Amino acid sequence: MEDPPAAPFGAYLHIPFCARRCDYCAFATWTDRHHLTADYLVACRRHVERAVADGSLRPATSVFVGGGTPSMVPAEGLLAVLRAIPTVPGVEVTVECNPDTVTPALLDAYRASGVTRLSFGVQSMVPHVLAALGRTHDPANVVAAVEAARGAGFETWNLDLIYGGAGETLDDWSRTLDEALALDPPHVSAYGLTVEAGTPLADDPARHPDDDTQADAYLLATERLGAAGLANYEISNWARPGRECRHNFLYWRQGDYLGIGCAAHSHVAGRRWWNVRTPERYIAAVLAGSSVVGGDEHLDLATRALEARQLALRTTDGVPADAFTPDDLAALDGLLAAAPGDVGRLVLTTQGRLLANEVAVRLRASPG
Ligand SMILES: C[S@@+](CC[C@H](N)C(=O)[O-])C[C@H]1O[C@@H](n2cnc3c(N)ncnc32)[C@H](O)[C@@H]1O
Ligand code: SF4
Repeated sequence: MEDPPAAPFGAYLHIPFCARRCDYCAFATWTDRHHLTADYLVACRRHVERAVADGSLRPATSVFVGGGTPSMVPAEGLLAVLRAIPTVPGVEVTVECNPDTVTPALLDAYRASGVTRLSFGVQSMVPHVLAALGRTHDPANVVAAVEAARGAGFETWNLDLIYGGAGETLDDWSRTLDEALALDPPHVSAYGLTVEAGTPLADDPARHPDDDTQADAYLLATERLGAAGLANYEISNWARPGRECRHNFLYWRQGDYLGIGCAAHSHVAGRRWWNVRTPERYIAAVLAGSSVVGGDEHLDLATRALEARQLALRTTDGVPADAFTPDDLAALDGLLAAAPGDVGRLVLTTQGRLLANEVAVRLRASPG
């Protein structure tokens, strides 16, 4: 008899270094600490080894290396951390890459060491939009990076796009979608530009996005990506059948995952925690053999149930209709519809996807 499939378990590895900080970005990443890279990767490997020994890192069904810019750090150090992470056969291993830092040799090394998926931070294919985002890469590098991914034998990869940058017209966004689709991507993530506190973008209201323009851009993405055979399986994510990101489903389905590296988040059975934020503190904690946890929270059952519905509604999984009270249904009138072909489940309508944050708030407010 075959073994039952392993319960999903994810490992997230955070690489907190970038060549330059983009004006919109609030992720835990630094541009002046490259001298810490080697010590940081050693600390991550030790953390992994410790977590394997104490049983908190079980064989992963997905591994996600995010940042920051993972493709900036030496491949050998990064791959040494990945090799220490136990995985199940058929594991999905994604590495986020900046198109500027990708070479065929780098991607060959990733592929040879079991990386199965790449995620490229493209954002826009239009130079003036990239400049307005405070982002520097030549769109030609995206084409070269995708060719290198194909040359290395990657069957699946993602393009991250952002809409709503200052001065971006619908024609500019249309061009980005066209040029992205010309690369025949198996997966696309398209995010509305979010103004994050503490970023240069937040300090510059003239560059803040407009809600109506962003709604039009979202609708255009839905139409174009859908027509190209990419299904909108989560609000901001589109994929060809079978090319959905397994790791992201862990987050949307309240699965368990362990975060390695500074500022990385973890979740196991209703307890969430996050590691200390800076690479210095993380390295020091690992070397001292002490805890790397910066804080934690325990979710009670009611909160977990609410979050389960909020997260599942982001995806085409949807939520069983009987999980909603009449009050919920009244609060979400016009924003929910029956899932296609799956009697008894509800998903967001296009209007509901446009108002996803509002849906989450109304669910919280509903007495149900
Ligand atoms: C964790 S970032 C790292 C990706 C990689 N460093 C890069 O930018 O090339 C993943 C993605 O989040 C998205 N993102 C980051 N900040 C954002 C913001 N303020 N608004 C919308 N999307 C954002 C970008 O599309 C980015 O590619
Ligand atoms: S968007 Fe990506 S490249 Fe830009 S600062 Fe953030 S993590 Fe670094």
